[in-house]
Amino acid sequence: MCGIVGILGQEPVAMRLVEALRRLEYRGYDSAGIAVLEDGRLERVRAPGKLNNLVERLLASPLAATCGIGHTRWATHGAPNETNAHPHFAGPVAIVHNGIIENFKSLREGLLKDGVKTATDTDTEVVAHLIAQRLKAGDAPRQAVQNTLDKLEGAFAFVILFEGEEDLLIGARRGSPLAVGHGDGEMFLGSDAIALAPFTNRVTYLEDGDMAVLTRSSLELYDSQGRHTLRPLQFTQASALLVDKGGHRHFMAKEIAEQPDVVGHTMAEYLDFNAGRVRLPDMPVDLAGLSRINITACGTAYYAGLAAKYWIEQIARLPVEVDVASEFRYREAPLEEGGLSLVISQSGETADTLAALRYCKARGQKVAAVVNVPESTIARESDVVLRTFAGPEIGVASTKAYTCQLTVLAAFSIALARARGKLDDEGEARLVTAMNGLPRNLVRALREDGHIEEVAQKIAHSRDILYLGRGINYPTALEGALKLKEISYIHAEGYAAGELKHGPIALIDEDVPVVVIAPSDTLFDKTVSNMEEVAARGARIVLITDEEGAAHHGRNAFETISVPLADPFLAPILFAIPVQLLAYHAAVFLGTDVDQPRNLAKSVTVE
Ligand code: AGP
Repeated sequence: MCGIVGILGQEPVAMRLVEALRRLEYRGYDSAGIAVLEDGRLERVRAPGKLNNLVERLLASPLAATCGIGHTRWATHGAPNETNAHPHFAGPVAIVHNGIIENFKSLREGLLKDGVKTATDTDTEVVAHLIAQRLKAGDAPRQAVQNTLDKLEGAFAFVILFEGEEDLLIGARRGSPLAVGHGDGEMFLGSDAIALAPFTNRVTYLEDGDMAVLTRSSLELYDSQGRHTLRPLQFTQASALLVDKGGHRHFMAKEIAEQPDVVGHTMAEYLDFNAGRVRLPDMPVDLAGLSRINITACGTAYYAGLAAKYWIEQIARLPVEVDVASEFRYREAPLEEGGLSLVISQSGETADTLAALRYCKARGQKVAAVVNVPESTIARESDVVLRTFAGPEIGVASTKAYTCQLTVLAAFSIALARARGKLDDEGEARLVTAMNGLPRNLVRALREDGHIEEVAQKIAHSRDILYLGRGINYPTALEGALKLKEISYIHAEGYAAGELKHGPIALIDEDVPVVVIAPSDTLFDKTVSNMEEVAARGARIVLITDEEGAAHHGRNAFETISVPLADPFLAPILFAIPVQLLAYHAAVFLGTDVDQPRNLAKSVTVE
């Protein structure tokens, strides 16, 4: 994730912007920069690498301006160099951006047709030019920004500065976080309250689709329809905590909401959107020479591994074994020298998974670790790290780490298929393009939150709840059941939908809700017939499907939750959102400790 800040101050802002950016370093970055209005003119200083490189340049050419914007960049479009570093300029517009503009290629083609020349490979510069075009057409700054946002697809947060406008900052968000800081005769914008903590603890969190228009003495907020709106002023504890709840009631809610942002960040590490290719780090084995892969993990990470099995076997045609690490480490699995083992762990400290890693290495396997904590034990003992960029995950129930694990595993599956000659350029580009739509589709899936809360309250007093899924949606059924049971304490089980008639259907009666996870894919009709089997026995069906599935079969369900229609390849990532929200709202309704459920630890470092 990139970090963005803006200050309308009463004193020189250059070093204050750097101070704010330092508090966003945890998000990871490879370049940084600031832009200020010096005597009404836009000036900027940027540097590759760490913030100290930027500070050196600022010390060499001090800036006295009292308003400016700043950015720490994690490269998505364009190499991590000074040219591509933010802030980007276009005429009188300076902009910093966190997120991914999905349709930037077509927008850039339009600009080129209008005779506009772009100086970088970034999607952000395209946005700056679009705003400049609107200003030139006579729009006032707020209208110019709104007219530009209406053209964008993807997940983003912006902070924008305008030449000649010494007392104006505009911020906007869709899918990536942004907060306003209230000072005394000063106003601030930042990716989160942590960035603003050096200046204020009075914060207003923007909601999805909001735009903020700031002067040193005022804040005007507009919602996604362009209507004036109000958002609560909150007092944060960010100065005490490295990570705050971002205006959410629980860390789990914040982390569910962060998924468009962090999945986009993780994707950007492995997908080259321009070339339509996957870019893995150097692997310790020749992927083309593998005869199979074994995957071990625990809990939610294990379910990510199960989904990877479907991806790898379907598109790379390579046999995959997946084990829970606590079993794998004792079953004496035969492993051949030089083979590849995958381990998956958010914390990188889970004892069983670490033991499984050591078992594999002791038998001559090379180990690739999908981890969220790069300095963890599992990361250090692996031969290669496939890092997720979920950021710190505080809630014990894993959510954003899970979808980031799936994102990495999907990219790995595509690269493996290419290496084995099972996928051509066109096939790879098709899947990379489908993945490029994830942030936007995750934003849309999150918009079902209110409806899912209502559904959760209707089933929260159940004694037992079943989750059904077929094919690659079976791991999602298992994960949905785990989410629910670990934070609401309701007994829940995930089953392969086709397995129900072999015993579990005996559990069904009108007191047992059944959650059916069924995108309108090739297995949809079979899953629907399973759904009707349980409906015939009085069960209340909660059907989680896409718009197409809902149109055909929603009427048979007690409740239908809709997910955006997308390539079935992406289903494990998109359908994670509703099962996470269902569990979250059931737990909140029941009053359990959502972030710290009983008996559980965030990282199980004992056997
Ligand atoms: C997931 O919600 C649980 N908190 C738990 O199953 C977790 O996924 C498991 O303990 C593995 O943790 P790790 O990913 O840090 O290895």
